[in-house]
Amino acid sequence: MDRLLTLALVYLAYLPAAAIGSERQRHHVQHGPCSYTFVLPEVEHCRPQKDFQVTNTLQRDSPAEGEPDRSQSEQVKAQKERPSWQETKLESLESAMENNTQWLQKLENFIQENVRSGMEEMKRTAVHTQTAAMLEMGTNLLSQSAEQTRKLTDVETQVLNQTSRLEIQLLEYSLFTNRLEKHILLQTQEISRLSDKNSFLEQRLLALEARYGRELQGLQGEKQQLQELLESQSQLVSQLQGELGSSTLNSTLLQRQQAMLTDTVQQLLAMVKHCNEISNVPAEEPVSFRDCAEILRSGATESGIYSIRLPNSTQTVKVFCDMKTRGGGWTVFQHRHNGSLDFYRGWKDYKLGFGEPSGEHWLGNDIIHKLTSSQEYSLHIQLKDREGNEAFSHYDRFYIDGEESNYSLHAEGFSGTAGRTSSFAQTGTQFSTKDRDNDRCTCKCAQLASGGWWFGACSPSNLNGIYYPASSSVIPYNAIKWYYWKGPNLVATLTTMMVRPANF
Ligand SMILES: *[C@@H]1O[C@H](CO)[C@@H](O)[C@H](O)[C@H]1NC(C)=O
Ligand SMILES: *[C@@H]1O[C@H](CO)[C@@H](O)[C@H](O)[C@H]1NC(C)=O
Ligand SMILES: *[C@@H]1O[C@H](CO)[C@@H](O)[C@H](O)[C@H]1NC(C)=O
Ligand SMILES: *[C@@H]1O[C@H](CO)[C@@H](O)[C@H](O)[C@H]1NC(C)=O
Ligand SMILES: *[C@@H]1O[C@H](CO)[C@@H](O)[C@H](O)[C@H]1NC(C)=O
Ligand SMILES: *[C@@H]1O[C@H](CO)[C@@H](O)[C@H](O)[C@H]1NC(C)=O
Repeated sequence: MDRLLTLALVYLAYLPAAAIGSERQRHHVQHGPCSYTFVLPEVEHCRPQKDFQVTNTLQRDSPAEGEPDRSQSEQVKAQKERPSWQETKLESLESAMENNTQWLQKLENFIQENVRSGMEEMKRTAVHTQTAAMLEMGTNLLSQSAEQTRKLTDVETQVLNQTSRLEIQLLEYSLFTNRLEKHILLQTQEISRLSDKNSFLEQRLLALEARYGRELQGLQGEKQQLQELLESQSQLVSQLQGELGSSTLNSTLLQRQQAMLTDTVQQLLAMVKHCNEISNVPAEEPVSFRDCAEILRSGATESGIYSIRLPNSTQTVKVFCDMKTRGGGWTVFQHRHNGSLDFYRGWKDYKLGFGEPSGEHWLGNDIIHKLTSSQEYSLHIQLKDREGNEAFSHYDRFYIDGEESNYSLHAEGFSGTAGRTSSFAQTGTQFSTKDRDNDRCTCKCAQLASGGWWFGACSPSNLNGIYYPASSSVIPYNAIKWYYWKGPNLVATLTTMMVRPANF
C-alpha cells in the first residue's frame, strides 16, 4: 500500500510540470465547460520601453471553433493559425487527466479496499488479541479460583479436623460425666443402705437394752433372795455342827440330818450358780435370718458360725458365713482344707449334710435346695492348689432341684480365673452317690470318682473327691478335680463352695 501511495504522490507532483513544462508562457485552466489561457510576460529577457504599457487581458479560448471573432487581437490570430497542435495537446491533457482521474479512482478504490481489508484484519487481530487476553484472563481466573478452592478445601479440612477433635473431646467428657454419675449414684445408694442399716440396728439395740434391763433386774432380785436363804442355811448348819460337836451320842441321826442338809445346800448352790449363769449369758436371740447376706446386712461383719432359718420352715441351721470374700455375705455349703473329713459317703449323708460348719463339711442337699430355690442365688467356688495359687469360678445364677429331681444342677453365667470354661457338668445333671447312680455313664461315676457329685458321663469336676496330701506325686482319677483350671493334675489344698443372693 505504501508503494502505491508513493507512486500516486510522485505522479501528482509531475502533473503541473507536464502541463507547464512544454509551454512556459501559457497557462491553461479548465473551469467547468470553459478553459482559460493565461499569457504571461517574460520579464527576464526583455526590458520594456518606457512608453510600453502592459495590458493584462483575459480572453476566453473556447468555444474556439465557433464563428471567429473578427475584432480579436493578434495573439488570438496567431493561435488560429495552428489550431490542430493546440487541440491535440488539449486532448492528450484531457485524456491524461481522465486517465489520472480513473487512476485516482482505482487508487482510491484500491486504498479503500485495502483499508477495509486492513480494518477487517485489524478487527480480526483485535478480536484475536482480545480473545487471547480473555483466554489469559480466564486462565488466570481459573487458576485463581483453583487456588481459592484449594484454600477453601484446606480450611474445610481444618474445620473438619477441629470439629472431629471437639466431638471426640465432647464424647470423652460425656463418658467421664456418665462415669461420675454412676459413681455418685453408687455412693448415694451405699450411703442410704448404710443409714438404713444404722437405724435398724439402733432400734434393735434399744429394744434389747430395754428387755435385758428388765430381765437383769428380776434375776438380781432372785439372786438376792437365794443368797439370803443360803446365809440362813449356813448359819443353821454351823449351829447344827456345834450341836453335833456337843452331842456325839446322837451322831447317826445327826449325821443323817447333816447329809440331808448338805444335799439341800448343794442343790441351792447349784441353783445359785445356774442363776448366775443365766444372769451372765443373755438369752439366745430368736433366729430370723434366712442367709449370711441378711446377717451381714444386720451388721455382723466377722466371718464365722451363724444360725439361719430356712425359708418357709422353722428349721434353723448353723452355717459358716464368709463375710470377707468379694464384699462378704456368702453362705458356705462345702468346705475342705486338710482332708480330715471323709467325703466318700452315701445318698442320705449328702441329703442331710455332714461335718461341722467350722471345719470341713457338706451342708446338705435338702438345705442347699431350700435355700437356692427360694430366691435367685449366685455361686462362688474358691480353689487353692498346692503351690498356693488361688483361683475362682463364679456363676451368676445357681440352684439345685429337690430330691424328687435328684438335686439336678442349674448353674449359668460362668466367669472367673479357674479356667476359661466351666468345669461343671451341663445344666440338669442329677446328683449321684456311691449308692444312687444317676449319671449318664454305663459305669458308676460316683464310685470311680469316690464322692457325691453331679456326674454326667463322669464330669470334668468333682470337688468331693479324695483329698490327697500335697506330697503325693501321682494323681489318681478320684482326686479332687476342677479340670479346666489345672487339668487332671489339680491337688487342691482348699475348696469352698458358697452362695449369695444374686442381687446382693
Ligand atoms: C491513457 O490510458 C490508456 C490505457 O490505459 C493509454 O493507452 C493512454 O496512452 C493513456 N494516455 C495518456 C495520456 O497517458
Ligand atoms: C488434626 O490435625 C493434627 C495436626 O494439625 C493431626 O495431628 C491430627 O491427626 C488431625 N486429626 C484428624 C482427625 O485428622
Ligand atoms: C438325842 O437327841 C434327842 C433330840 O434330838 C434328845 O431328846 C435325846 O436326849 C438325845 N440322846 C442322848 C443320849 O443324848
Ligand atoms: C483339720 O482341721 C480341723 C479344724 O480346722 C482340725 O480340728 C483338725 O485337727 C485338722 N485335721 C488335720 C488332719 O489336720
Ligand atoms: C412358701 O410356701 C408357700 C406355700 O406352701 C409357697 O406358696 C411359697 O412359694 C413358699 N415360699 C418359698 C420362698 O419357698
Ligand atoms: C432319681 O434317681 C432314682 C434312682 O437313683 C431314679 O429311679 C429316679 O427316676 C430319678 N428321678 C428322676 C426324676 O430322674
